[in-house]
Amino acid sequence: MKQIPFAKVVCDGNELAYIREVLESGWLTTADKAHRFEKEFRDLIKVRYAYAVNSCTAALHLALEALGIGTGDKVLVPTMTFTATAEVVRYLGADPVFLDVEYGSCLVTDKILNQALADHPDAKVFMPVHYGGQAAKISEADGTGLFDICRAKGVRMVEDAAHAFPARCNGRMVGEIGDVACFSFYANKTITTGEGGMLTTNDEKIAQRVKIMRLHGINRDAWDRYTSNKVSWEYDVVAPGFKYNMPDTAAAVGLAQLERAEFLRKERERCARFYLDRLEGFDCIDLPLLHVPMSDHAWHLFHIILKDDSPVPRNQFIELMAERGIGTSVHYKPLHRMTYYREHYRLQPEDYPNAERIWKGCVSLPIYPSLSEEELEYICTNITEILK
Ligand SMILES: Cc1ncc(COP(=O)(O)O)c(C=O)c1O
Repeated sequence: MKQIPFAKVVCDGNELAYIREVLESGWLTTADKAHRFEKEFRDLIKVRYAYAVNSCTAALHLALEALGIGTGDKVLVPTMTFTATAEVVRYLGADPVFLDVEYGSCLVTDKILNQALADHPDAKVFMPVHYGGQAAKISEADGTGLFDICRAKGVRMVEDAAHAFPARCNGRMVGEIGDVACFSFYANKTITTGEGGMLTTNDEKIAQRVKIMRLHGINRDAWDRYTSNKVSWEYDVVAPGFKYNMPDTAAAVGLAQLERAEFLRKERERCARFYLDRLEGFDCIDLPLLHVPMSDHAWHLFHIILKDDSPVPRNQFIELMAERGIGTSVHYKPLHRMTYYREHYRLQPEDYPNAERIWKGCVSLPIYPSLSEEELEYICTNITEILK
């Protein structure tokens, strides 16, 4: 029997060479590699500012803080996401308002957003999640894009782009369009630094605040002081900031991964094409609903949704796959079902009909560059046997 894990990292580029350079440099925390990683990410996204941090969660927190979000403010977030999207809202004493998503794509649509803004005209920020690596429709020529809607209503947009590098929306990179975008380089993401994240923005005010707040609210970073020509130990603390900087050991891995980002994305696309082709004819499963060309999708996740008439329910399907050596996962148990959010905000499942339908049947299949055709064939054959 084969053993196919749900996720597997590929680090066969310059990762080791760059880490060696860091170890030999005598300076392991944020320095040259992190600055290079930021510059190259910025150039790739075509955005004015990019800040490397130690997680996407940190980036999301910094983004909301920089926008001045505080106690009692309302922030719109999809229910179909990881807790990080909503927990950062709570860090600041603000309240997440949970939105349903479109069945199949798991994305917030213009219709859902317009309704939410009508119900909550005082909402300050909307946080779209580019679920699985497919960009939500943030920018549309006819003005129905999520960012266009936000702008017209004076609502700021913080994109949770944890899954969405490299991904495009209407030919532009995710990160180039909205107010702020936050990316994750957690170990199972399309490019990784082990743990890490990046915040991108074109807004100078946001950028200045993020730069300071990611390192204790200090007005000069340690590398700047260390490398300065002038004898200058002095620094000032201008706000009670956070410790969110990315060390150079992590940035070294990120730089090497970035060099191969499009190759790694294409390899994931190869897996997605295989699944779409082989799983097409099944009446009892729904495949991901795609709104973007295959090549604009980051393909962090590939989910299938087992329908009510599936011969086996979702949890049993996962167990049967595990018995055959195939790792799977669930993205997500929606936040309205998580104890904290459910109890704190008295959330009712019937208010999220699409997320409920998705969650009852959703299974994420293995998708990563080193997954061979033989392994993909094994996975699809086993799905066929289980569902026949
Ligand atoms: C949608 C979403 N947002 C945010 C995060 C947080 O990312 P990180 O682990 O880099 O903080 C994740 C993590 O997987 C995620 O899936």
